[in-house]
Amino acid sequence: MRIRTNLKPAAWLAACAIAAFAVAPMTAAAEDVTVKVGFAAPLTGANAGYGKDLQNGVQLALDEANAKKISIGGKTAKFEIAAEDDQADPRVGVQAAQKLVDDGVAVVVGHFNSGTTLPASPIYNNAGIPMIDPAATNPTITTRGLENVFTVISSDAQNAGNAGVYAVTTTKAKRIAIIDDRTAFGQGEADEFEKAVKAKGGNIVAREFSDNQTVDFSAQLTRLKAANADLIFFGGLDRQAAAVVKRMKQLGVNAQFVGGGGVMDADFLKLAGDAAEGAQAWEYGSPLDKLPQGKAFGDKFQKRFGVAILSYAPFGYDAAWAAIHAMEKANSADPKVYRPALKKISFEGITGPIAFDDKGALKNASSTLYQVKNGQWETIVTKHGM
Ligand code: ALA
Repeated sequence: MRIRTNLKPAAWLAACAIAAFAVAPMTAAAEDVTVKVGFAAPLTGANAGYGKDLQNGVQLALDEANAKKISIGGKTAKFEIAAEDDQADPRVGVQAAQKLVDDGVAVVVGHFNSGTTLPASPIYNNAGIPMIDPAATNPTITTRGLENVFTVISSDAQNAGNAGVYAVTTTKAKRIAIIDDRTAFGQGEADEFEKAVKAKGGNIVAREFSDNQTVDFSAQLTRLKAANADLIFFGGLDRQAAAVVKRMKQLGVNAQFVGGGGVMDADFLKLAGDAAEGAQAWEYGSPLDKLPQGKAFGDKFQKRFGVAILSYAPFGYDAAWAAIHAMEKANSADPKVYRPALKKISFEGITGPIAFDDKGALKNASSTLYQVKNGQWETIVTKHGM
């Protein structure tokens, strides 16, 4: 068929070029494939700071992956976050998980609390959607043998276990006491701490608990003072840990405070003020400033979001990249197709090498003891394994 035109040849060519140019972006858009990355964490309530920090870490990974125009199944992948607020509440966590599954996400990075992760993970597992945990650390998250559950962070068997060994063998505390917040996380880490103390022949003089809303620890601390404790391990998060050290100071409890994961952050320092001095906390992983890409990541994060990393953002970032790398390797965002690649993934993350053992737990995990000196967290020692 001849196209009739009254344009002169040069004008005709120019018109064709304009038409081709106009069509090109449409063709490119048609060749994009959207990959939904589920994310669930507390975005409101007392743990919202951690949740937002993690979400920013995930978003940064997705921004970078989108800028790289990664090809999946012959199309350019556009990674989009689908974020749910689980309010750090196990029941809301389950609803959030169901919503993400119904939404058709290809992977979930989440949750933050062990208390939400434990009931939410079987939902993803049954739906065949990999969940990559960037923050929840109860050891049973991976020991239950759920094939779609992975974690990029060390567990409390390791972190609180190291805290217990250190309290007995290095601090040489003689009268050790414990308080926990009775969540799956706090109680779990207190159990691991106690187990390690006992295994080293240490002496536990008292064990107290609160719930995760408690703001006044006077009753527990009065009893620990009467028990003459010389070291108090607290299983719970930053805000409550700050309330514990403040009350210890007010009541004249002269014991070494030792926190588990989630305590070593700026919010603890701000809330505890002078009472923070000398406090110790065991945190998952190695110090960011000692990791090869740590400083550059911190700067990039600050530039992108206008705030410093609070705590777990680098784990959120590494969890998201684990999924992206696996999808790229498998050339598919279909969980059935990319899961084998995820199981075998191996790359240098911001937090260190990322690879999973046969249960989906992080291989070669580490944990670090920090202590507040002159109002700042300082690194004392990093332990690889137990
Ligand atoms: N590591 C904490 C938890 O497991 C945040 O709940």
